[in-house]
Amino acid sequence: MSYPYVLLSAAVSLDGYLDDTGPERLLLSSPADFDRVDAVRASADAILIGAGTIRADNPRLLVNSAERRAARVQEGRPAYPLKVTVTATGDLDPAANFWHAGGDKLVYTTDRGAEQAARRLGTAADIVPLGPGLDWRALLSHLRDVRGVRRLMVEGGGTVHTQLLQQGLADELQLVLAPLFVGDPAAPRLFGPGGYQGGRLRLAETRRIEDVVLMRYEPTAPGTGRVPAAADRHWLRTACELAALCPPSPTAFSVGAVVVAADGTELARGHSREGEDPVVHAEEAALAKIDPADPRLAAATVYSSLEPCARRASRPVPCAELILRAGVRRVVTAWQEPDTFVAGADGTGILAKGGAEVVVLPECEEQAKAPNRHLVG
Ligand SMILES: NC(=O)c1ccc[n+]([C@@H]2O[C@H](COP(=O)([O-])OP(=O)(O)OC[C@H]3O[C@@H](n4cnc5c(N)ncnc54)[C@H](OP(=O)(O)O)[C@@H]3O)[C@@H](O)[C@H]2O)c1
Ligand SMILES: [Zn+2]
Repeated sequence: MSYPYVLLSAAVSLDGYLDDTGPERLLLSSPADFDRVDAVRASADAILIGAGTIRADNPRLLVNSAERRAARVQEGRPAYPLKVTVTATGDLDPAANFWHAGGDKLVYTTDRGAEQAARRLGTAADIVPLGPGLDWRALLSHLRDVRGVRRLMVEGGGTVHTQLLQQGLADELQLVLAPLFVGDPAAPRLFGPGGYQGGRLRLAETRRIEDVVLMRYEPTAPGTGRVPAAADRHWLRTACELAALCPPSPTAFSVGAVVVAADGTELARGHSREGEDPVVHAEEAALAKIDPADPRLAAATVYSSLEPCARRASRPVPCAELILRAGVRRVVTAWQEPDTFVAGADGTGILAKGGAEVVVLPECEEQAKAPNRHLVG
């Protein structure tokens, strides 16, 4: 299952509110920041908001800059991104601006909501029921596989942002902090209560824009079991970047590996043939940097750009076995080892037999193969 890159975008007051309770939308951002948001919209294939934001703010969700629209068209994309909303009730006002401007419209809803939405909207939007409830993973894979959306911008509100973050589905959070207070406990908050995965997010950037500050964060906590999180892709891409650092070899793959604790702390990283060791494998190199007694290993994930090896000529213990011996029970990889050097190698089988979950993220396969083109064509 592959998903689009999911970018959450929001502006908040100093006391963490998305809006006040007045009838007008509270302007939190500055003019230059609205222009930045316009550029982010232009970069997206689709923009999603919850039905609550349509009702509260009646937004158009356009790309306002004519140059940006022209650039999109030049790239062979529609002038405006697809506009997407989610609703359980189907209670959508057909007169809302959302339906009357910008790109194509798409409604994800439940089986029950679909009837109501169709009654209200007629042909103004494509309506996609996702079953008795709305499953975000089903929504994201539909967006990617059926609608071709590779980059999704989510512009709120808090109910939607909270779910995507709590379910580990956000790749990035772009948060603008506005220098004012709302001070009304009845106002909507950006993030609601509930279980958030992992510990600290990575701060990717801060930028002053007039009197507001943009902060870009990336969640880092791995998924659990077979269920991938957006952060799994981030770490696997990091492993692929490490693979590109390997000294090329005609007789061995270039592989990168990262070991990450359940709270998103990086424990170690490594790549094939690193340092003075001409035969070391990526997972082996990374695990060797961690104290074997580290209690975080039991709930850690090993990210390896290539499936961990099952047999190797250079050392007695293959990486799949090293991973199990380290106590790790979750492995995320981009592609399965081909028969280039070892016929029928089944690192995944060894890991599974040892009780480890192996997750393959095919969206990283190209990047993982890139430094191995001379071996696999
Ligand atoms: N400052 C900012 O950057 C910013 C951005 C956006 C919004 N806002 C503010 O946020 C407020 C609205 O936030 P909100 O949290 O009430 O609204 P929201 O997140 O936009 O929408 C919530 C609605 O979306 C639908 N929905 C959400 N999750 C769903 C699920 N899993 N399954 C089915 N339907 C689902 C439901 O619609 P139904 O009720 O139709 O079933 C739900 O009531 C407004 O005050 C707005 O001004 C601020
Ligand atoms: Zn190996």
